[in-house]
Amino acid sequence: MVTGVNEFSEIEHFSIDWRKKFYGKPLAVLFPKDVNEVSCLITLVNRTAGLSIVPQGGNTGLAGGATPNNEGNQLIISLKRLNLVRAVDFFNRTLIAEAGCTLIELQKVIEKSKLYFPLDFSSRNSASLGGLLATNAGGLSVLKYGTAKDCCLGLEVVLPNGEIWNGLKTLRKDNSGYSLKDLFIGSEGTLGVITAASMRLFSPVEEKYTYFVKTPNLASAIELFGQICHKTQDNILAFEFMEKNAIDLVTRHFPERVPHFIKQDTNYVSCIVEFPATYQKEGCNINSLSEVFLNKRICSYQKKCSEKEGKEVWCLRESITFASAKDGPQVKNDISLPISKIPDFVKHITRKFNQLYPDGSFINFGHIGDGNLHFNFAPFFNKVLTKGKAAETADFLQNKEETIRGLINDAVVLYDGSITAEHGIGRLRKSENVRLKSDVELEMMRKIKHSLDPKNILNPEILF
Ligand code: MLT
Ligand code: ZN
Repeated sequence: MVTGVNEFSEIEHFSIDWRKKFYGKPLAVLFPKDVNEVSCLITLVNRTAGLSIVPQGGNTGLAGGATPNNEGNQLIISLKRLNLVRAVDFFNRTLIAEAGCTLIELQKVIEKSKLYFPLDFSSRNSASLGGLLATNAGGLSVLKYGTAKDCCLGLEVVLPNGEIWNGLKTLRKDNSGYSLKDLFIGSEGTLGVITAASMRLFSPVEEKYTYFVKTPNLASAIELFGQICHKTQDNILAFEFMEKNAIDLVTRHFPERVPHFIKQDTNYVSCIVEFPATYQKEGCNINSLSEVFLNKRICSYQKKCSEKEGKEVWCLRESITFASAKDGPQVKNDISLPISKIPDFVKHITRKFNQLYPDGSFINFGHIGDGNLHFNFAPFFNKVLTKGKAAETADFLQNKEETIRGLINDAVVLYDGSITAEHGIGRLRKSENVRLKSDVELEMMRKIKHSLDPKNILNPEILF
């Protein structure tokens, strides 16, 4: 099915990113049904001067990497119709599925096979396998299972000249030269269009313990994390954190999603810590954790959640992004740092911003066990505004966003971090990526891009 530019209103859904920050105007949105149709389309574009392609999965990315420009010379290739699960191999513990399968579909199919699909995050209903590989997504289970890249064993990719590369191996070990799949994972659709993937599967964790913990500050949260890793011999399923502002945001927009035992008036850092229950059953001494939990210096409050309470704390955690979107524009960040350097980084940048932007606040939450902070800046977080918060913030950010992003990223570099941990560069961070990457790195990336896509037809306006 091909939709023409005159029906633009119908294709709006594909032309705007999830946060409604980037608005594109594609020439058309194309819905190939299989890898051969993807290949035909790319071959055609390759032979037509002036056109390029933006591959798109569930369109849930937060960096604008799947949004076209507004010049009408880009075609969106939506992978939605490539949604077959081609194979589940119980003994090999692998799956081969097409790029358009959503995360929730995969989780359900795999559950029926008594296995577990390792990736999970809040946009699971729409995010698709191709998109999560193209952006090397992380999410809520990285501590145990790693990122999309760690869980992927092979890929099927349509190259910019239309050739199909079938690299759908399901091997744990394969040392036969360059790991080509790793070139495409995280390349955000600039080197090829991922049409299918083989993924590792795991045994489900039948029973888990979820703890909700309050710790006095970020440094103590990190100490708590370190001690728990040590005591459990790294047997942790998740270690997530939320600072007070993040919980305040959810309280403001979805008050019913904040469990009564979480409501907070002081500046605790709230954490969700999860373990497999087998850890305790095997006598591996989860009781030694009580020593950690009883240490008031690093743990002010801890609650072992019932199943229902566990679901409630995860619902709160997953609601932060939705509450942020309702609250209005922010400078969204997705940084990673060496875990030990997080407290100093936060102190350094907060001191600077308190002087420069006294009405603003950071909304800090994320995956502390991965060193990954969603460190979003809201310029008028607690200020009552006359014109309306969303409009006034948008006006403010129109002039200041680049400067703010630059200041934060300079500090990220100073503390040896990365400007994106799991959301990717896309359109949002392109200029910062170019500003901050070394010439050597940029040159290597450009050479790789040029050798695979000399006509620059695949997602040419993102990354660098
Ligand atoms: C999350 O961890 O909730 C997501 O990465 C989304 C976000 O950063 O807004
Ligand atoms: Zn995240």
